[in-house]
Amino acid sequence: MTNSKKFALVTGSSNGIGRAIAENCAARGFNVLLVALPEPKLEEVTNALAAKYPNQEFHCLGVNLMDAGAPQEVFQWCQKNNFVVDILANNAGLGNSGDFLSKKAEFYFGQMQLNMVAMVMLTHHFLPEMQKLDKAYILNVASMASYYDIPFKGIYAASKKFVSSFSHSLRYELKDSNVFVSILCPAAVLTNPEVIKRDANMGFVSKITRQTAEQVAEYALSRMFNRKPVSIPGVFPKFYRTLGRVIPHRMQLRMLANAFIKQSRE
Ligand SMILES: NC(=O)c1ccc[n+]([C@@H]2O[C@H](COP(=O)([O-])OP(=O)(O)OC[C@H]3O[C@@H](n4cnc5c(N)ncnc54)[C@H](OP(=O)(O)O)[C@@H]3O)[C@@H](O)[C@H]2O)c1
Repeated sequence: MTNSKKFALVTGSSNGIGRAIAENCAARGFNVLLVALPEPKLEEVTNALAAKYPNQEFHCLGVNLMDAGAPQEVFQWCQKNNFVVDILANNAGLGNSGDFLSKKAEFYFGQMQLNMVAMVMLTHHFLPEMQKLDKAYILNVASMASYYDIPFKGIYAASKKFVSSFSHSLRYELKDSNVFVSILCPAAVLTNPEVIKRDANMGFVSKITRQTAEQVAEYALSRMFNRKPVSIPGVFPKFYRTLGRVIPHRMQLRMLANAFIKQSRE
């Protein structure tokens, strides 16, 4: 590893929270590997970072992480180029809303591949190399949705529970090692058209929990480097998390169904 440079690898870094995580890592002096769908935006973001931080390295790989072979492709790309990953941010993820049967089975298959399988596979590929380093971090992006069962958003919420559960378990397994696993659980962040539409429908609740992608990234990375297991950005989301512990489950289901049904029927 003598000639190898260390990098933060961020999935879903051409937009939203992933882009903000990549930018925040760059501002902290890290070299960054940006992985997202093979769209022009990915190169634009990478080039912009390279121009802003000329003394650091930025590389990108366009790949569809819903494809079963994609995590291995990402790993091999790093191996081939001697990129050593000391921060792995598994951020890429896809939401959904609507009656369960309103989407084709293929949609859910892709969503589960992206939200869960790609995260596990990337972690499995990179962890052995990360364990050889003095210090390394894994940041898995879950959601406030991971704390609830959400009618009309069921697969998303379940996939984020998976992210959270897997990350807590792995952190414990690695507790005596050099690799620290942290979980980010954001509430609303206005990043893409689906979230913006949802936000408009959620009204007041969303307005008071909303954070920018930059705020979320700064909070999550600061906490990760301070070895905090979970980051819930914002005061109100923390409050909602506490509410979720005291409101009876049936009532929670009814409240969440009411909140998500409107947007899902539009
Ligand atoms: N926004 C929120 O309110 C919110 C709240 C809680 C949790 N989260 C979680 O935070 C993470 C980021 O969300 P976001 O809102 O920032 O997302 P976003 O703005 O939609 O951006 C998603 C990123 O992932 C990339 N991507 C999408 N599908 C991909 C695929 N199949 N393979 C590779 N890359 C793919 C996108 O590339 P393109 O730009 O080319 O599509 C983009 O770079 C997700 O895991 C999400 O569940 C978001």
